[in-house]
Amino acid sequence: MDVIDVVLIAGDGIGPEVTAATCEVIKAAGAPIHWLPMPAGVAAIESHGDVLPAVTLDALRQVKVGLKGPVGTPIGGGFRSVNVTFRKALDLYAAVRPVRNLPGVKTRYEHVDLVIFRENTEGLYTGIENEVAPGVVTSMKVATEKACTRIAEAAFEYCVRRGRAKVSVFHKANIMKLTDGLFLRCARAVREARYPQIAYEEVIIDNACMQLVKDPTRFDVLLMENLYGDLVSDLCAGLVGGLGVVPGANIGRDCAVFEAVHGSAPDIAGNGLANPLACLMSGVMLLNYLAEARQNPACKQAADRIKAAYDKVLSDGKIRTRDLGGTAGTKEFTAGLIAAL
Ligand code: NAI
Repeated sequence: MDVIDVVLIAGDGIGPEVTAATCEVIKAAGAPIHWLPMPAGVAAIESHGDVLPAVTLDALRQVKVGLKGPVGTPIGGGFRSVNVTFRKALDLYAAVRPVRNLPGVKTRYEHVDLVIFRENTEGLYTGIENEVAPGVVTSMKVATEKACTRIAEAAFEYCVRRGRAKVSVFHKANIMKLTDGLFLRCARAVREARYPQIAYEEVIIDNACMQLVKDPTRFDVLLMENLYGDLVSDLCAGLVGGLGVVPGANIGRDCAVFEAVHGSAPDIAGNGLANPLACLMSGVMLLNYLAEARQNPACKQAADRIKAAYDKVLSDGKIRTRDLGGTAGTKEFTAGLIAAL
């Protein structure tokens, strides 16, 4: 059986707890993965003198696939976000985040089945900020035809491959006429040239947020630039049970790093309370990606086993973490998942 090297970044806060749980379940499911632990985040400053050591980026460039826990970013100063830096450095241009109701997890909404495509390399996240005069600061929003076109292609191609019917582009091109205007023009051009069979709509982002909380089932695949994708991801997580249940992938041409949407959750870190499911579901996305990209059927089998196990545990409803209304800690929930495999 081919064993596949995968970089593992435990990260900060609840990161080490949820990534450890994920590795345990993936191992128990029999996936042929060899983890390569690498430093990043606040912990890496102490061990390597850098939040994102070169050794980590080199390892990702070499093995081309990783699982990452969340990393903390200081607010209003301090070092630049590790997430923004590594996504840019490895050109992981598409953040792909499926948001679905889970069996047994009751929320205000039913039949939610969305997939967010967030442009991951530019927009306002380039971090180009200037103090032009005392008391006057600017932040530069960048959009390029290349980046807008390739994220649109990723979203439409996903529709074709997964049998999805519609792409909704969220934008604010009424105000940001050049940047969001370019994003829209590129999406339209991609659709007209290659995907005319996929339904398409453009929705101004403020109205889109209202529509999402009113009736999320009217949407299918959501396409947007970086900042909107960041905000809408958390909003959508709230539709299906919160940040503990929404996975994600950062996909580039040659490399892919899988991570949950949530952050390091400093309010619960170190207490064994985190829900590892979002990280585990990201692990399932990783296994499905490897099954396809490396033609490894054992990865597909393990992914299917894990999905069936968490569907069963959640449906039974006996073992649940606190964010989902239960009392189980990370370890108890993980043990329940392994027992259900
Ligand atoms: P957060 O996502 O860490 O937490 C928001 C709320 O959701 C908290 O109440 C937290 O306890 C809860 N939560 C999150 N994940 C959970 C889980 N798995 N199980 C149970 N409850 C969970 O967002 P916050 O507090 O805004 O950010 C904290 C730090 O994380 C910041 O430094 C931020 O920059 C960083 N961050 C990192 C991300 C990444 O590495 N991908 C993504 C988002 C934020």
